[in-house]
Amino acid sequence: MRRYAQIIGWGKSLPNHILTNEDLARIVDTSDEWIRSRTGIRQRHIATDPRETTASLAIKAAQEALRVANVPASRVDMIIVATSSPEHIFPSTACLVQDGIGATRAGAFDLSAACSGFVYALSLAHSMIASGTAEYVLVIGSETLSRLVDWSDRSTCVLFGDGAGAVLVAASEVPGGVLSAVLGSDGSGGDLLIVPAGGSKLPTSLETVASGLHYLKMDGRGVFRFATRVLVRATREVVEQAGLSLNDIELMIPHQANRRIIESAARQLGLDEDRVFMNLDRYGNTSTASIPIALCEAIEEGRIRQHDHLVLVGFGAGLTWGALLVQWSVPLPLPETPWWRSAQYSGSFHVAQARSFGRRVLRRLYDVAIGPREENGHTARGLSRRVQRIKARLRGERGSDGEDMPRES
Ligand code: ACO
Repeated sequence: MRRYAQIIGWGKSLPNHILTNEDLARIVDTSDEWIRSRTGIRQRHIATDPRETTASLAIKAAQEALRVANVPASRVDMIIVATSSPEHIFPSTACLVQDGIGATRAGAFDLSAACSGFVYALSLAHSMIASGTAEYVLVIGSETLSRLVDWSDRSTCVLFGDGAGAVLVAASEVPGGVLSAVLGSDGSGGDLLIVPAGGSKLPTSLETVASGLHYLKMDGRGVFRFATRVLVRATREVVEQAGLSLNDIELMIPHQANRRIIESAARQLGLDEDRVFMNLDRYGNTSTASIPIALCEAIEEGRIRQHDHLVLVGFGAGLTWGALLVQWSVPLPLPETPWWRSAQYSGSFHVAQARSFGRRVLRRLYDVAIGPREENGHTARGLSRRVQRIKARLRGERGSDGEDMPRES
C-alpha cells in the first residue's frame, strides 16, 4: 500500500515588535517609498525581547501545529528545523524544540538550505513517511535573522524579518499530500549571500567582529537575477513531474523575498494575482519561515480548499532552490477546537517544561553525587594511555607479552 505525506496541522509565531519602514528611515538612509517600490515590504516583526529566539518561536509554531492536528507531541517521530539563524552551532535548534514541546520519542535535527530550507525539510519528511521510517514529522522554519543583520547596512537591513511557521506531516493511505519535489543547488554562487565569519573557515575573533564579518552580506542584484530565473524553472519542473499543467494549480506560495521577484515569476508562468499568495508587505523576508507563515495565512484567508493543488517554491543562499507540489487533503475551514482540548494541550506543554526541568536537576544531582572531576580524571587518564599505546605502536614497540607498551606517567 502506497503511503502519502499529508499536512494535517499548521501554526505560526511572530515576535511582538513591529518595525515599519518609517522606523527604519530613522536608523539608516532610506525611505518608505524606496523600500515599498523596490521590495513591496511595509513592515516586519523583529525579536527585540531576548526571550524571543529561533527556538522559542519554533516551539510556539510547533505547539500550534500539534493543536490544529490534534496529535500529542509524544507521537512525533522526527522534528526537522530548517533555519539560517540557529540558536547555536550546536546543539541543534530542533533538539531544543523536542525538549520544549515534550516530543519524548522524536529524533531531531536542523537543516541548512537557507530560504529553501522549509521546502527541503518538507520534501525530506515526505520521503521519510513514504519509506515507512516515520508516521508523524514536524517540519519547522524558524528565524531570528535580525540578529545576523548589520543594522547600519541599508541594502540588507530593510529586507528581513523574524518569525516561525510549522506543519505536522502525517502518514496516510489517502492519495494526496506531497506529489512531487524538485530540489537544486549551485555552490558556485555561495558568495552572493553569505555570513562570512563564525564558522570553521573564519572563526569568530576580535578581527572578524571589528570588520563586521559576522553579519550577513549580499549581492542583491545577483540574487535577484538568480531568483526570478529559478522560481519559474522549479515551478514548471515540479508541476510537470506530478503529471499536471500550470492550469491545474490553484495557488502558488512562493518564498516571500521581494514583490518584484514574485510578480516577474508569476508573469512568466501566466499565473494571475489570485493564484499567487503574497504577504511579504507585513513580514518582510523571514527566510525559512516565509512559506509556512504564508501557508497559515492562506488557510486563514480561505484561499485553500480541499483537493487544491499548491506549489510551494523557494530559493536562497547556497545557492539553493526547491519546489513541492502538494495536493491539499484536509477539509477547510476546520471546526472550532473545543476549549477543553486547548486546555489539555496547554497542560501537556507545561508538563513538558516540568519534565525538562526535572531532568536538568537530576543531571546536576548525579554530577554532585558521582563527582564530575573524578570522572573526568578517569577519562583523561584513559585517553592519555590510549594515545601512548598508539604512539608506541607507531614506533613498533611491543611489550614482553606481545601487548603494546603503555608508558604510564
Ligand atoms: N534605501 C535607499 N536606497 C538604497 C537602499 C535602501 N534601503 N538599498 C540600496 N539603495 C541604493 C543603492 O545604494 C543604489 O544606489 P546607487 O545607484 O547610488 O549605487 C540604489 O539604491 C540601487 O541599488 P540596487 O542594489 O541596484 O537596487 P535594486 O533595485 O537591485 O534593489 C534589492 C535592491 C531590493 C536588494 C534587490 O536587489 C533584491 O531584492 N534582491 C534580492 C534579494 C533577496 O531576495 N535576498 C534574499 C534571498 S533569500 C535568503 O536565502 C535569505
